[in-house]
Amino acid sequence: MNKIVAIRAAILDLIDDPNKVGEDAIRYFEDGLLLIENGKVKAFDTAEKLLDQIPAGINIQHYENHLIIPGMIDTHIHFPQMEMIAAYGEQLLTWLTAYTFPTEKQFSCENYGQEMSKLFIDELLRNGTTTALVFGTVHPESVEEFFTESQKRNLRMIAGRVMMDRNCPEDLQDSPEHAYTECKALIEKWHGVGRLQYAVTPRFAPTSSPEQLESARKLLEEYPSVYMHTHLSENIDECAWVKELYPDSKDYLGVYEDAGLVRKRSVFAHGIHLSERELNCMHDNNAAIAHCPTSNLFIGSGLFNLKKCEEHNVHVGMGTDVGAGTSFSLLQTYNEAYKVQQLQGNSLSAFKGLYLNTLGGARALDLEGTIGNFNIGCEADFVVLNKAATPLLQLRLENARDLHDLLFGFMMLADDRAIEKTYIMGEVAHSIH
Ligand code: GUN
Ligand code: ZN
Repeated sequence: MNKIVAIRAAILDLIDDPNKVGEDAIRYFEDGLLLIENGKVKAFDTAEKLLDQIPAGINIQHYENHLIIPGMIDTHIHFPQMEMIAAYGEQLLTWLTAYTFPTEKQFSCENYGQEMSKLFIDELLRNGTTTALVFGTVHPESVEEFFTESQKRNLRMIAGRVMMDRNCPEDLQDSPEHAYTECKALIEKWHGVGRLQYAVTPRFAPTSSPEQLESARKLLEEYPSVYMHTHLSENIDECAWVKELYPDSKDYLGVYEDAGLVRKRSVFAHGIHLSERELNCMHDNNAAIAHCPTSNLFIGSGLFNLKKCEEHNVHVGMGTDVGAGTSFSLLQTYNEAYKVQQLQGNSLSAFKGLYLNTLGGARALDLEGTIGNFNIGCEADFVVLNKAATPLLQLRLENARDLHDLLFGFMMLADDRAIEKTYIMGEVAHSIH
C-alpha cells in the first residue's frame, strides 16, 4: 500500500542559484503543503491548491510558527574526528600530527567505529543534516560501521576509507595495493546499496605517493559512478609541501589532474589558494569544491573566494569539516561563511546560503533531482525549523522585515536548538521533544 504523508507549513526551497537567476530561484509558500508518497515528493504547492488532492483519511501534520526547508547537505566532514572537535592551538600540518592522527588510530579497536557512528549520525540529524560526504579512517571497519548505521536509518550518505601511504604514522599507513583491494571490496559491498554511495578518498597529495594516486584512478576507472573526495589547497605550508613533493605538476590541482582524479563527482575540500588555471580546470572537468568556513577560520587556513568560483562557474557546496570545523550545524556554518565573505567585500545573502546548504550541495554531489529541494520525485528529507526556539530568535524573527530578513535571522542565530524535527524519506528521524 502507498504511504502518504501530508505536511502543512511555511515552506521554502531553492530551485536554482539565486546569484545567477535572482528571485526566480526562490520558491516560498507561506501556507504551503508538501505531499509525500512512499518517501518521495508527490506534490508541493500552496495548501489552498493542494488540500483537495489529499486522500480521505490522511492526517495533515500542520506546523504553525515554523519554517520547513530541505534537509541540509554537508559536502565535507570527517566522521572519526567528532571527538577531537575544538582542538587547541595548531594550524593544519601540526594539527594533523598533534590531534588528528592519534584520534584516527583509535578506529583500529573493535566496535569503536560502531559507537561513534551512532553518535555521529545522531548529531547530524540533530543539526538538520540529512546527507553528507564523509571521510572515514584508513581502517575499512570505520566505513563499514558508518554505512551499517546509515543503512539502518535509511539515510542518503556517501563515504570512503582514507588512502594514505606516506608522511603519516606507520600504523596508519597503507600501500597502493592494500588500499586498492580494501576499497574495491567496500565499493562492491556498499556502492549503490539503498541510498549509500562510495567515495574513493585519498587524504591529500602529501600523504599519497604517485603510485597510490594511480590506484585511486584505477578504482574510478573500474567504477565510474563512485565519487572522489580529497583535500585541496587549504593551507600555505601544505601548498609549498605539495610543490616539493610533486615538482613536475603544474600546481596543486595539477597533481590530482595528472592522476586522472579531477572529474564529475570529484569533491575537493577547501580550495582556498587556487590560481586561475586551477579554477578553470575545476570548471572544465565539472568538479566541485566543499567550502568549509568554520574550519578555515579555526585552523587559520585563509579566506575562501566564493566570488571567483562563481565567476568561473565552479560548483560549490558547504562543508562543516568537523573536526577542524567547529560546528555540525550548517546554519552556523553559513554564519561564518557570511563573515568570511564580508572580509572580502562580498555579501553572502541568506538565499545563497540556503542554496549552498541544499541545492548547491546536491549539485556539487551530482544529486540534483534526488535531494536538495522539493521538486516532484525528490526524496523527502527535510527540516522543521522552530521560529521560537530561543527568546532571542523569537524576538529577532518577529521583527523580520521580509522573507530574506527572516531567513537571515534564522541562519545567523539558529543552531540545533531550532531544529524541531528532521524527516528522512517523509518520516521523523529526529525530534527535539
Ligand atoms: N588535510 C589532510 N587531512 C586533513 C584533515 O583531516 N582535515 C583537514 N581540514 N584538512 C586535511
Ligand atoms: Zn577535511
